Amino acid sequence: MTNHNTSLFSSLLLLSLLALVSLASAHGTVSTYDLQKIKEEESYYRQKKVIDISHKYVPDLPSYASKKGLGDFLNLVGSIKNGSLVNLSTFKLSTHSGTHADAPGHFIDKLFDMGCDADSLDLRTLNGPVLVVDTPRDKNITAEVMRSLNIPRGVKRVLFRTSNTDKRLMHQKEFEPSYTAFTADGAEYLVQNTDIKLVGIDYLSVGINVRDDISKVHYALLGRKDVIPVEGLNLDNVVPGVYTVHCLPLRLVHGDGSPARCILFQS
Ligand SMILES: *[C@@H]1O[C@H](CO)[C@@H](O)[C@H](O)[C@H]1NC(C)=O
Ligand SMILES: *[C@@H]1O[C@H](CO)[C@@H](O)[C@H](O)[C@H]1NC(C)=O
Ligand SMILES: *[C@@H]1O[C@H](CO)[C@@H](O)[C@H](O)[C@H]1NC(C)=O
Repeated sequence: MTNHNTSLFSSLLLLSLLALVSLASAHGTVSTYDLQKIKEEESYYRQKKVIDISHKYVPDLPSYASKKGLGDFLNLVGSIKNGSLVNLSTFKLSTHSGTHADAPGHFIDKLFDMGCDADSLDLRTLNGPVLVVDTPRDKNITAEVMRSLNIPRGVKRVLFRTSNTDKRLMHQKEFEPSYTAFTADGAEYLVQNTDIKLVGIDYLSVGINVRDDISKVHYALLGRKDVIPVEGLNLDNVVPGVYTVHCLPLRLVHGDGSPARCILFQS
């Protein structure tokens, strides 16, 4: 057989094997091939440490520009103790509560109208290899800081661990306006000089609390449509390094953002 024929032959063989395997699955029997694969995956994932980087939703979790935290957002509407068949609650939260992702429509009205909502956020951006970096504790994330971090091209996801984590700001009910985040020139540097698409930060906003900057930072990042800020991360137990991140916001159609469950797998 020619080389070409050989590869065609092996492709056909592989295809028919796959067809057999899927036929087996379709009939409810687990093939030894499937079982072996599951066992391999199981032991692969079992070896990996999982770090939860979402904060718990509790009444004292801080809320942007508020002294009172989230407050009583959870409301029990049916109670077994009171004769109801089930315990059942409703909850009311801002779309930007706790650990959450921003959608482009959060700051940019035109993109909101175009349907760039929480449901449209790219799962490929929100899941994959990630770099956790420590930022200089005495500075916000300026262009100069970004330059000094020297994040190589090709790195698509970065979680910035700042003094917010040292100060445990996400564990303090009252909003802290002097939190660390990106300045306008820092965000501009990121979009111009890096390939970062997932920008994670350890307090409630990716932009510093200066009106001009907070807008410019969000415009620079969200205006790209493919950059996703993930804010309010819990990086308490994370040492800088390479991980795999999984971050899943709710499919909130017309949502300008959404709470997200984010975890790291140690790689
Ligand atoms: C049901 O709700 C009650 C409050 O009425 C609470 O005390 C109880 O622990 C809940 N039970 C379960 C199983 O969650
Ligand atoms: C259960 O009923 C009592 C008495 O009517 C009421 O005071 C209490 O708020 C109710 N609790 C819930 C969870 O509905
Ligand atoms: C970051 O910027 C905020 C808002 O201007 C400021 O209050 C804070 O002190 C700055 N942080 C650092 C570490 O310079």
